[in-house]
Amino acid sequence: MILRDFFMYLSENRTLNAAAQRYGLKMGAQSVVAGTNIKETIDSIKELNNHGIACTVDNLGEFVFEKSEAIAAKNQILELIQAIHDHGVDAHISLKPSQLGLDIDIDFCYENLKEIVALADQYGIFVNFDMENYDRLHPSFELMEQLNNEHQNIGTVIQAYFHESDENIEKYKNYRLRIVKGAYKEPANIAYQDKAEIDAKYIKLIEYHLLNGKFTSIATHDHRVINHVKQFVKTNNIPNDKFEFQMLYGFRKDMQLQLAKEGYNFCTYVPFGRDWYGYFMRRLAERPQNLTLVTKQVFNK
Ligand code: FDA
Repeated sequence: MILRDFFMYLSENRTLNAAAQRYGLKMGAQSVVAGTNIKETIDSIKELNNHGIACTVDNLGEFVFEKSEAIAAKNQILELIQAIHDHGVDAHISLKPSQLGLDIDIDFCYENLKEIVALADQYGIFVNFDMENYDRLHPSFELMEQLNNEHQNIGTVIQAYFHESDENIEKYKNYRLRIVKGAYKEPANIAYQDKAEIDAKYIKLIEYHLLNGKFTSIATHDHRVINHVKQFVKTNNIPNDKFEFQMLYGFRKDMQLQLAKEGYNFCTYVPFGRDWYGYFMRRLAERPQNLTLVTKQVFNK
């Protein structure tokens, strides 16, 4: 718990984030971040596609407080969508509303998102709204609902640790949903703290959406959950085209390949960009064993 809190604290440190941006991918981050630019990222996507794995691509970016930063992020995502289309790769977009200006002005954020979603829609590319901390949960849902009036190529994430996730999954069951356990540090009055309780809720939400929802992305590295889902879809005759498994780039690579080989739809979450620091620290917070990635990089020079 102490290590987790320490890495969460580091992930929220703006000064360290800015310092990290000045250097390339360091401290083992290159194992879990696909590249710093679009060209390197398209190459990584092509390689995964060759193994039958689709990708959801995230232009990393945090601490956006200036409109100019949000506009730069929007332009980068538009360029990425164009590149996905031009190269004909099997990939869609994951984005964080805060990167597009949610903390600055919600109408400004809406306009940025609209441009992105419209271009992606034109090319038949899906856009997933990643979910961040609780303060941004409801504004993000609202933005998605508003955009859905014009574009249906959008979906979002349900975080199992929130007490209200049962209501949210029901409310948004007609969207394509990624279901996760939840990555941010949240207080006990809004989120479960106990791992066993979160795991149980996680399974419940996955089963609900598989039976009642549109399309389910089961995003986890937990083999117990994956095995449970394999059995559940079989028992309930849920066809493979109703769901996919997702994992983060660089994690459990053998299992990613194996699931794709077994014929399941598999999608790797591919983060890229110069702003890798906060993302990387959150991965260390989730699983301090990931520190071995760091030590290997530091000592195997
Ligand atoms: P968890 O950390 O609970 O581990 C359970 C067990 O799985 C471990 O005890 C171990 O046995 C095994 N295991 C886990 N990782 C392993 C590894 N690397 N190697 C070997 N064994 C391992 N969160 C959020 O709040 N908003 C979001 O939008 C997203 N988006 C997202 C997309 C994708 C594709 C993924 C995979 C995850 C997210 N998350 C997220 C993060 C998510 O909420 C969660 O914090 C992490 O996935 C960690 O939980 P897991 O279920 O993966 O395993």
